[in-house]
Order: sequence, then C-alpha cells, then structure tokens
Amino acid sequence: MRLNSPQINIIIRACMKASRSLIRDFGEIENLQVSTKGPGDFVTSADKRTEKILIDELQKAHPEYGIVTEESGIINKANIKNRWIIDTIDGTMNFLNGLPQFAISIGYEEENEIKCGVIFNPIMNEMFCAEKGNGAYLNNSRIRVSNKKKINEALLVTGGPKGASKIKDKIFSEYINVSNNVSNVRKFGSAALDMAYVACGRFDGYWQRELNYWDIAAGIIILKEAGGFVDFFENDEGQPLKRNILASNSNIHDELKELINKKDIE
Ligand code: 2AM
Ligand code: CA
Repeated sequence: MRLNSPQINIIIRACMKASRSLIRDFGEIENLQVSTKGPGDFVTSADKRTEKILIDELQKAHPEYGIVTEESGIINKANIKNRWIIDTIDGTMNFLNGLPQFAISIGYEEENEIKCGVIFNPIMNEMFCAEKGNGAYLNNSRIRVSNKKKINEALLVTGGPKGASKIKDKIFSEYINVSNNVSNVRKFGSAALDMAYVACGRFDGYWQRELNYWDIAAGIIILKEAGGFVDFFENDEGQPLKRNILASNSNIHDELKELINKKDIE
C-alpha cells in the first residue's frame, strides 16, 4: 500500500488494536440474543470499551489533537486544526443483532479538511483506507468507483429514517422515487460501509439524510480518492445541510441529485 502519512499509520494501528476486543465482543452477541436481558447493555459497554482503546491509542501518538466522537463527545475542544473524527461502531443496530455489517470509522481532519481515513470491518477483515492525493485501497489493492453511466442500471444504497425522524414520510417518498428510476436500492445499515462500497464499485451511489459527521468523515476521503463524487443536498428550507449526503461514481451524480431533489414527490 502506498499510503504513508504518519496519521494514516496511527489510525490503522488504533483500528487493529481496538478490533481485537470488538471481535471478541461480537462473538458474545449470539449468546445474549437468546438471553432474557438481551444484548442492549452489553453493546453499550462494548462500544465504550472499544472507543477507549481507540482514544488511548490516538492520544498516545498526539495528545494535543482534538477528537470528535459519538460516545465521549469532543476531546481537546480548543484544537480545531488537527482532529480525529471517530465512529467506534458504525452500524450499531447490525452489531446488536449479530449481523457482521459494521465498522470502525476514523477520519483525520486538518484545517477543516479530511486528509485521510480508514473504515474497517473487522469481521470481514476488510480495511478501506485513503489519503489525500494517494488513492484509496481495500486491504492492499487499489480501488475505484464503478463505471456505470446509466442511472436506470444503477444499484444504489441508502439508509434511514432513524426512529425519531420527523421527516419519515419525505424519506420514504424519496426512496420510492429513486427506486422507480434505478435498477435497485439496498439498505445495509452502516453509512461508513455504504460509502466504502461505492468507493470500490459494489454500489454505484448512496444517499442518506440526518447523518452525523462521524458517520461519513472517513467515507468522504475514501470516496473522493476512489474517483467518486461527494455532495450534500438541500433541506426543506433550501439550505445545504452537511447531514444530507449524496455520493456516487460521478457519472450518475447529476441525475441522482435531480431524483432526490424532485419536488413533486407524492
Ligand atoms: P450508527 O450505527 O453509528 O448509529 C444507519 O442507516 C446508519 O445511519 C448508520 O451508519 C448509523 O450510525 C447512522 N445513524 C446516524 N444517526 C442515527 C440514529 N440516530 N439512529 C440510527 N442510525 C443513525
Ligand atoms: Ca455511525
């Protein structure tokens, strides 16, 4: 692999270390699935345990960097120049249900720009990495987005709505509208892996509303370096929101954006 920044090496090391306990924890889920208590509390503690390993490793290398996380909030708030953006288990619902479709996702941001990132599915042993200017990789192989040009032949992936969403109807009608104009749409439950899968050509495009920065930070650089196009689409008030992402192989981008923005969805 020709990725060689100090930051990507630090992220890879942290992911490898944290994944050992995460794999063990995932192995426990099956037993808990059938227990009367269920795996809910166990998953919360597995998440915290894994996040602590990641944070300790990243801090060992750079105690001064900012860290943005879902569980532990923001660490070293004052440092906005160098930040790690962490999603410890992206695809928590899958993890909870014993489905091996989840990943550790870590991006490194410098001066507000993502410079490198890693998305690691420890169960499949698939590590997606990218560094600005040096391409994107799946394990040791260079990856590229698909070359599909016709939207009606495209296989897309999406996610949401989340349980508490106030715009469920809008999200469902968007889904119908897109589905009616493409080959098919999947819902796999991990935003990070969805983006990684577009980056390596398994899907031609991805869109989802109401995400958080940690869901997509690493995915943004991996997709861009694989030749994809990452965009954000508008909310109801016409304001571009960084929570609504649209990512594709570039070729189908404009048509997909048009489908999503279509106002006459019934
Ligand atoms: P998570 O597993 O880390 O919660 C599922 O469609 C994707 O959306 C996952 O990547 C999931 O991340 C993300 N997501 C973000 N916020 C969410 C929420 N409040 N509820 C469910 N999924 C959420
Ligand atoms: Ca997430």
